[in-house]
Amino acid sequence: MIKTQKREMLEASLFLLVEMIYLDFAASTPLLPSVKELMFRAVEEEYANPSSAHKLGRIAAEKIEEVRELIADSIGAYRSEIIFTSGASESNNLAIKGYVLANKNKGKHIITSSIEHKCILAICHFLEKEYGYEITYISPKTNGLIDAQDVIDAMREDTVLVSIMHVNNELGSIQPIETIGKACLVRDIKFHVDAAQSYKKIPIDVDKLNIDMLSISAHKIYGPKGIGALYIRDLRETRIQPVIHGAGQEHGLRGGTLATPLILGFGAAVTDETIEKNLDNIRNLNAFFRSKVIENGGIINSPNFDYIPHILNMRFPNFDASQFVANSDFICSQGSACSSMNIEISYVLREIGLNFDEGNQSIRVSLAHETTQNQLHEFIKNLKKGA
Ligand SMILES: Cc1ncc(COP(=O)(O)O)c(C=O)c1O
Repeated sequence: MIKTQKREMLEASLFLLVEMIYLDFAASTPLLPSVKELMFRAVEEEYANPSSAHKLGRIAAEKIEEVRELIADSIGAYRSEIIFTSGASESNNLAIKGYVLANKNKGKHIITSSIEHKCILAICHFLEKEYGYEITYISPKTNGLIDAQDVIDAMREDTVLVSIMHVNNELGSIQPIETIGKACLVRDIKFHVDAAQSYKKIPIDVDKLNIDMLSISAHKIYGPKGIGALYIRDLRETRIQPVIHGAGQEHGLRGGTLATPLILGFGAAVTDETIEKNLDNIRNLNAFFRSKVIENGGIINSPNFDYIPHILNMRFPNFDASQFVANSDFICSQGSACSSMNIEISYVLREIGLNFDEGNQSIRVSLAHETTQNQLHEFIKNLKKGA
């Protein structure tokens, strides 16, 4: 009886999913068919520990190394410079804490921006509080873009690290990574880039952009959740303190048995060209969507140049975004944090100058190859009903 009820509930929730329109691809993506297929097989077959010396262990290890090579190739790096992690949050932790805590003698000043992903801000607050680091938080312009000159002006003798995200997850703004990278190189300051939102959407060459460390995540590119990578330039010569101590895996920097099926799924997502092939489609969709938003009295919060077309942040007067996000069948994100009684507007929107009401009228929609003009048309119609 209970079993039947449970099955009915499951079927009902699956039916609900079919009714919904997913427009939150910047938060996470479904698995691509190619990824799913490979992972199902890997879950069945790749159970041996890749650190084991026996034949099956060695086969798993070889497959993992192929994926490491794929990732390295995709950003112009060497295989020996890639560390597998659980995702971009962990990569960011290993890059920032790992580097600065192993190089305290080089200085205790870090530069980042005030609109980084929450995990970067949390790492910086931890370093300030527990280790006395001084952090300079660069504010964006009102269009969500960081001025490279502001970052350069903040550089000091004791600056040990600069960490700036490639693409902002709420606005889609593309930051001037190459200029900042060049300035870091000249001053011998390490440069870390959180590329969770840009990887495979913007070509990345770590040499051309002068990036020393780069964080990426599989579930933003139609791969599985729980796997990511950190690129570290000249890994063997760079002092990094592990965040997860273990049995020597990943050059002793990240302990724990490597998750073979997740890594192989990550590899399949890296190889698949669906994202790259649909860039023009998404550019067209973004242009269509922008014009519809404006036509219907909305205001675009995202910049109107230097943005990725996959993310559009907008606001509508008299619109209650939190109600819409909670109740609508259009799955998108508000970008505001609700803590029990208080609704706070997103710190990113606050940083680009929006007040509480404007923040609460704002919504982030993220597009992908599955998205259609018709869905966006319906989205606006529904949103206007709620306004
Ligand atoms: C810019 C950015 N950095 C880091 C993360 C965290 O990634 P993960 O979920 O892989 O830890 C995200 C995910 O939302 C992101 O958008």
